[in-house]
Amino acid sequence: MRIDVLTLFPEVCEPFFSASILGRARQSGLVTIACHNIRGWSADPHHKVDDRPFGGGPGMVMMCQPVFEAVEGLESQGEGAATRVLLTPQGERLNQRIVEEFAARKRLILVAGHYEGFDERIRSGLSPREISIGDYVLSGGEAAAMVLVDAVVRLIPGALGDEESVQDESFRMTDAAPREAGAAGEDESGRRLLEYPQYTRPRVFRGMEVPEILLGGDHGKIRAWRRAEALKRTAQRRPDLQAADQNGVESYRQARQDEAGVENSHAEQDH
Ligand code: ADE
Repeated sequence: MRIDVLTLFPEVCEPFFSASILGRARQSGLVTIACHNIRGWSADPHHKVDDRPFGGGPGMVMMCQPVFEAVEGLESQGEGAATRVLLTPQGERLNQRIVEEFAARKRLILVAGHYEGFDERIRSGLSPREISIGDYVLSGGEAAAMVLVDAVVRLIPGALGDEESVQDESFRMTDAAPREAGAAGEDESGRRLLEYPQYTRPRVFRGMEVPEILLGGDHGKIRAWRRAEALKRTAQRRPDLQAADQNGVESYRQARQDEAGVENSHAEQDH
């Protein structure tokens, strides 16, 4: 996969793309990420990339010429047409479904703007996918581009050391390698769930104990507990995720029954 990021501040993005999981994915050749300064394509003698808005008003507007030539120039290099993405608060709100869609693409070109916004012809002429990372306004699209690239690259097979960690995490949606139906991350019908609670050593910290069930080594029971916890947590914190599915309530009830069964059999074991 190749990702090009067009920005006025490549020096802000580059270190982020060189650290941790992203840095490793780049080094191992799973992804090529290149940050480019849009000014490099400006035809203006002073490398101007913005101008005052027609009709008046505050701030400056990103001009068409450098952005068009940057996108078209990059696309003409080798791999050809890319999925073009404009980071803007006016865009479609980013979610895991979109992230997965992008992770399946061979090539992305992200355009991060600054100033008051983009000349509207950048939208109409380049037909980018417009993406927002949330309903708030940042001073530029760089942070949004970093969020998007991070979320996408970690889904590339091999990017994470442990493939399992994508399997169960919150919002995971695709079933590329179905393993255990009912594991958290999604349920057996592929609905999105928040992740179940996790614990590590010590078994007791300041009087707070790890749930017994996780220490018993019965993987069937652990799976049922985790599924119930994921459903419970999703119902409590993000009922909107379940509301999208008519079967959500029934599934939740079933999980609570399973959970009660687990607790009962566990109580029996204790006697
Ligand atoms: N640029 C400024 N604010 C933004 C946001 N919320 N999402 C994406 N790009 C942006």
